[in-house]
Amino acid sequence: MTHQRSSNPIGIFDSGVGGLTVANAIHEQLPDEHLIYFGDTAHLPYGDKSRDAIRQYALTICDYLLSQSCKAIVVACNSAATAAFHELSSFLNGKAIFVEVVRPLVKAAAKYQPENVGLIATKATVDSKEYEIQLKKILPDTNVHSMATPLLVPMIEEGFVDDEVSRTILEEYLEHSDFSSLDMLLLACTHYPLIKPIIQEYLQGVRILDSAEVTAAELSDKLKSAELLNPTPGKKDNAFYVSDFTETFEVNAQLFFGKNVSLKEARIWD
Ligand code: DGL
Repeated sequence: MTHQRSSNPIGIFDSGVGGLTVANAIHEQLPDEHLIYFGDTAHLPYGDKSRDAIRQYALTICDYLLSQSCKAIVVACNSAATAAFHELSSFLNGKAIFVEVVRPLVKAAAKYQPENVGLIATKATVDSKEYEIQLKKILPDTNVHSMATPLLVPMIEEGFVDDEVSRTILEEYLEHSDFSSLDMLLLACTHYPLIKPIIQEYLQGVRILDSAEVTAAELSDKLKSAELLNPTPGKKDNAFYVSDFTETFEVNAQLFFGKNVSLKEARIWD
């Protein structure tokens, strides 16, 4: 890894505040690390955009995070990770450690040897078929039922996480017959852990997995083997940027990260 120092920051990005679920897990597991979070709110939601557009956004954000000297970049967005895995991996090769959310979640799911796996995600993630491909490599006999749930990201970004609106929308999606005999549900969008409790109410007895903790653990392993874990307790404040600032984002960022977040605008598209 060229010119990387263990005191350098970790860059994390998503289309909005959903990736803060991953940032939060990273902060819990690696409290001495300095985090730079970027939410591309100017282009939210990614899930309805073309593959080419998502790739372009993701590469530009990685370039920005590299310019901030990030030693590792975490793609805390399934839509970006599935649309641009190969491009991001070759772009970051030799420059920074690359971690994304799909493979850690697939590995975690495979440990339980599920028979019927349901998956909810954005349209971009479902259309990519990446989860089916990765799951079938490890569990060829597992049935995978994927469903695009495009209303959930805007719903969560607007703060509807535990009320009548969120319950009604979820029920509409989850009552689909494909989901009647699941033993596992994968939340293949980093926004969805915010509504995990109400999903669990609806799918009682189904094991629900998301990528936050397992992605943080993968990052920790990779930093350890590259000897890039920050050895000195963190003194620097974590930094949170969005490409288009609104007060709603700031309020939600506080809610999702669970701590004080001062959100700043970084106009990387100008
Ligand atoms: N959190 C993003 C993901 O994991 C949401 C993408 C979107 O903006 O649609 O896919």
